[in-house]
Amino acid sequence: MALRVPTAILFSFAILPLAFYLGRDRQSTSCRCFPGEPCWPSPEQWDNLNASLSGNLIATAPIGSVCHTNTSFAPYSSQRCAELLSHWSIPATHYQDPSSPMAAWWANFSCSPFSAGCTLGPLAHYVANVTCAQDIQEVLRFTTKHNIRLSIRNTGHDYLGKSTAPGSIALWTHNLKSIEYKPNYTASWYAGPALRVGAGVQGREAQDAAHRSGNGHVIVSAHSPDVGFAGGYTQGGGHGPLASRYGLAADQVLEWEVVTAKGEILTASPAQNADLYWALAGGGGGAFAVVLGVTVRMHAEERTASASLVFPFDAADARAWEVIRTFLLAALPLADAGGTALWVLYPGPTAVTFIGGPFVLPGAGAEDLQSYLAPTLELLREYEMGYDFSINTYPTYHASVATAAVNVTEFHVGGALVPRSTIHSNPNGFISTLQEILRHKAAISSYSMNVSRPINSPVSANAVSPAWRNAAVSLLLGIPFNYTNRQVNVENQRLMTDVLLPQVSALVGPGEQGAYLNEADFNQPNWQSLFYGENYNRLLKIKQKYDPKQIFYGRTAVGSERWVEHGNGRLCPV
Ligand SMILES: *[C@@H]1O[C@H](CO)[C@@H](O)[C@H](O)[C@H]1NC(C)=O
Ligand SMILES: *[C@@H]1O[C@H](CO)[C@@H](O)[C@H](O)[C@H]1NC(C)=O
Ligand SMILES: *[C@@H]1O[C@H](CO)[C@@H](O)[C@H](O)[C@H]1NC(C)=O
Ligand SMILES: *[C@@H]1O[C@H](CO)[C@@H](O)[C@H](O)[C@H]1NC(C)=O
Ligand SMILES: *[C@@H]1O[C@H](CO)[C@@H](O)[C@H](O)[C@H]1NC(C)=O
Repeated sequence: MALRVPTAILFSFAILPLAFYLGRDRQSTSCRCFPGEPCWPSPEQWDNLNASLSGNLIATAPIGSVCHTNTSFAPYSSQRCAELLSHWSIPATHYQDPSSPMAAWWANFSCSPFSAGCTLGPLAHYVANVTCAQDIQEVLRFTTKHNIRLSIRNTGHDYLGKSTAPGSIALWTHNLKSIEYKPNYTASWYAGPALRVGAGVQGREAQDAAHRSGNGHVIVSAHSPDVGFAGGYTQGGGHGPLASRYGLAADQVLEWEVVTAKGEILTASPAQNADLYWALAGGGGGAFAVVLGVTVRMHAEERTASASLVFPFDAADARAWEVIRTFLLAALPLADAGGTALWVLYPGPTAVTFIGGPFVLPGAGAEDLQSYLAPTLELLREYEMGYDFSINTYPTYHASVATAAVNVTEFHVGGALVPRSTIHSNPNGFISTLQEILRHKAAISSYSMNVSRPINSPVSANAVSPAWRNAAVSLLLGIPFNYTNRQVNVENQRLMTDVLLPQVSALVGPGEQGAYLNEADFNQPNWQSLFYGENYNRLLKIKQKYDPKQIFYGRTAVGSERWVEHGNGRLCPV
């Protein structure tokens, strides 16, 4: 971790005996080569790499350079800077850029419209705008030969900072946009419609293609339409509005097409390279291979009910919490019936707002969905609390999905999976914890769902953490990010790690602890067991087999504990 490490390193050097210090120093030859070091390739070598990529090597110019006069990256332009500011919060601003991370922390105040100066900071040094498998092979050959850090960037929609790496060449997969409809995919474990999407295809593009295929299909994709489908999303599990009905995105995978660390192009399915298939489906993005494309099963379109419910309340009003408790308990049978509910508790200066929606029940009409929500609405009326509610039956799932853009998350996040048993047996404890979190002015964004289904009707076993199968709520906490004061963020990260998340953890039994590896605190202690559960050791072995030189590194990715990031981002073996 670029930002946490310096004090830890200083501390450990201070207490280490000299002999050990020297021993570590000798090993430093196996650190990844960092810009400015003698091992860094010459301009001519970079030109050769660029030529082998048909001119698709980009020297990183931070997105904020147009807002700075004192930089050699891009000329200052007040007009372009104003333009950038006007659409800063839109995901496309960042995913169309080769290097801008969506979670601002990972730019480390190096060069944004709000930063004091403009340097590369933790951004990739070069970005390969890859167009095919051969480009990926060329980059892998180059990084292996010159011992250069590699990163894989899709959309940059990534809270854990896996896709941003200082001194690296980034494989930018965003432009791998192929989509293929396979009406009759056949394997021993599945026969039916499937969709093959390239690594750069985003959720909405894939969902649109599924909708247009045959008589209309759906796939499991994220609530946020811009999330790259085949990247960290599906590789990390992947939840969304249809997850209770069909399982997580990783549960839908029929096969992966990958380039391995050694540069081989492989298909990984339950029949071929089954161990790699298993690891890629749930074991996290950017750890095992470079995914070129994924083939997932599709499900027939069906009518879908969708609703939303919004009401402001006073955090001290016990009646409001009774309403929320009623809602929380109703979300359990709703999820069992194949529904999902996204709900946010947003603390404002005076009141908290409950922002519920979409509540989605596929294969059902508004009257079915209404039956789950009725007790909550009745209570709101009884207490004469004002609320906005809307509910509709749509002819298809596709028609039910709002087309409004979802902004980038300008929060420091932390997450936990809350098991069903906790909500069932201790709803009051859960509510006290939510109240405590709100008292710290953190926002709560929760997804109620039940993804236990695939255990009974699996396409194939995968590496999704077992904690997911018992979870009733994927809880995401957020503390607003401060663009100008680095220290405030550092303090808020500590609040997340040391105060807020332990309170959630205290609610959950020791055998049931877990967190969704894509929506979690990057400082999370014990991340191996919390993110991967009992699968961790097997995942490590598979990593060792396919990536023996540990070419793929990502913060909190499988095997990352073998590396440490120094203050400037230089990556060294532990
Ligand atoms: C790679 O080549 C293209 C085309 O010649 C050029 O526009 C680009 O600036 C080069 N990239 C680097 C990093 O030199
Ligand atoms: C401009 O950047 C250079 C190099 O980073 C730095 O030494 C100098 O202090 C900067 N000047 C201003 C006015 O920020
Ligand atoms: C992040 O910023 C801090 C404070 O300016 C700096 O010490 C550190 O080197 C930076 N890390 C990276 C990777 O840019
Ligand atoms: C990346 O490559 C695509 C073609 O695959 C091209 O359309 C796009 O302009 C390139 N982006 C940049 C920033 O060079
Ligand atoms: C493919 O599937 C469709 C229905 O899903 C069916 O009508 C058609 O006969 C199948 N084609 C083949 C070649 O199996």
